[in-house]
Amino acid sequence: MVDESNSYKKFKIAVLVSGSGSNLQAIIDSIQSGYIPETDISIVISSKEGVFAIERCKKHNINYVIINPKEFPDRKQWAKKMIEVLKENDVDLICMAGFLIKLEPEIIQAFPNKIINIHPSLLPKFGGKGMYGLNVHKAVLDAGEKESGCSVHFADEEFDTGPIIMQRKVPVFENDTPEILSHRVLEQEHQLYPEVIRLIKLGKVEIIDKKVIIKDNS
Ligand code: GRF
Repeated sequence: MVDESNSYKKFKIAVLVSGSGSNLQAIIDSIQSGYIPETDISIVISSKEGVFAIERCKKHNINYVIINPKEFPDRKQWAKKMIEVLKENDVDLICMAGFLIKLEPEIIQAFPNKIINIHPSLLPKFGGKGMYGLNVHKAVLDAGEKESGCSVHFADEEFDTGPIIMQRKVPVFENDTPEILSHRVLEQEHQLYPEVIRLIKLGKVEIIDKKVIIKDNS
């Protein structure tokens, strides 16, 4: 990618977080190792103070900002601020990584096909409102599923319903607890999210009529 001054332009991503940020860490590590090539995290946006994801930003010298919807008169004002910050940072891709706030339609429309999310189940199963954290794994166990996994998908205006890009599966064992299953799934998340971001950066992910096409997955 070459800009007008002919200088090299890195791929810029934003990561949206609300919690521990272990997926953020996996992305940081994959950029540092070169697995995700020529990419910078331009900004991390946290929906709240005091989360461990922010400590990770400090440690790795990554710009971060807290944009808490509770501090805005309404969701529209919050969305306006989110769009402003994302535009200021000129991002090529927005990665939701444990971000617990539903994106307003204005945000989705401002960045068409540029927002992705990771979810700890094999969507479309076990997605939607209330399906976050251990609730997901508890629901999987209650349903007697024999396998679970994680999904990376484009974000749309609902929870967890956008076009699926890639998934990874894990087995579910009889003695699993939600905690044990969540660890098994999280291990896969940490591989899947960097893999998808890498493919997008390399221009290998296309979306046509809400269908995802992965070109030459190598
Ligand atoms: C992950 O399980 C992710 O799939 C879900 O929220 C969790 C975030 O974990 N959306 P972390 O903050 O990346 O550790």
